[in-house]
Amino acid sequence: MLSKRLGSILQRLDCSGRVADIGSDHGLFVRACAEQGSPRPIAVEVARGPYSQSLAQAGQSREPMDVRFGYGLDPLQPAEVHTVVMAGMGGETIMEILGHSAGKRCSFPLWFFQPMTRHVKLRRYLSEIGFSILEEWIVWEGQRPYLTVQAVPIEQPWPVQLTRWYPDFGEEEYMIVGPGLLLNPTHAVHQFFQHNLQGLKSCFARIPEAHRRIRQTMQQDIFLWEKVIQCHLQYSQWHR
Ligand SMILES: C[S@@+](CC[C@H](N)C(=O)[O-])C[C@H]1O[C@@H](n2cnc3c(N)ncnc32)[C@H](O)[C@@H]1O
Repeated sequence: MLSKRLGSILQRLDCSGRVADIGSDHGLFVRACAEQGSPRPIAVEVARGPYSQSLAQAGQSREPMDVRFGYGLDPLQPAEVHTVVMAGMGGETIMEILGHSAGKRCSFPLWFFQPMTRHVKLRRYLSEIGFSILEEWIVWEGQRPYLTVQAVPIEQPWPVQLTRWYPDFGEEEYMIVGPGLLLNPTHAVHQFFQHNLQGLKSCFARIPEAHRRIRQTMQQDIFLWEKVIQCHLQYSQWHR
């Protein structure tokens, strides 16, 4: 059964285009793409065990899917797929894979990233390599939030909505919080922002008074997240 976080990507896929899932592991996502009508989606795996698991899913799938062994985008031809998915990996691994295929990456028009770590670093990196974030959302599985970033390999101006609803924010704040999350009025995003703020506050409470510098920086972060929540509430009330 497909997890809720992977299901949220599947829901948004345009199944008329070909899809590749890098780091397919169990192979469930690619099988679900195939069975939902995506033409011969491709599972890519670099580790033997997960590669075998993906092959096993291909054997059971009602619709055809490919399984390829190799690193990142290496097993794909330029422009071979419309959509690339990289889910369940650390942000560093995603950046390494993108950096490794700098010449090829722009030939794939649509991307979904589900980084388990380093959200801010990944956003900054995407911006550096000329990708624009179209949308971001949060899925909660139990107590844990999962971020998904949908991006295109084209430079685009920031949506005017950002400056309208978050007038004191600039590029730095967009990278920290997520431009797509700021414009996503769902309760899941609100909960995520609250979760970050509570995490910061409980961390702050444990820092000894003597560590003035650290406390000062953390206070600024707390102030930022309080402001984010305040503006996001107004934005959400207007857009729900
Ligand atoms: C934790 S699993 C996530 C599986 C699945 N995408 C999901 O979200 O449930 C990460 C998978 O990525 C694979 N992987 C890591 N680096 C990779 C790379 N450079 N190229 C292809 N696969 C990679 C690992 O072998 C592992 O099976």
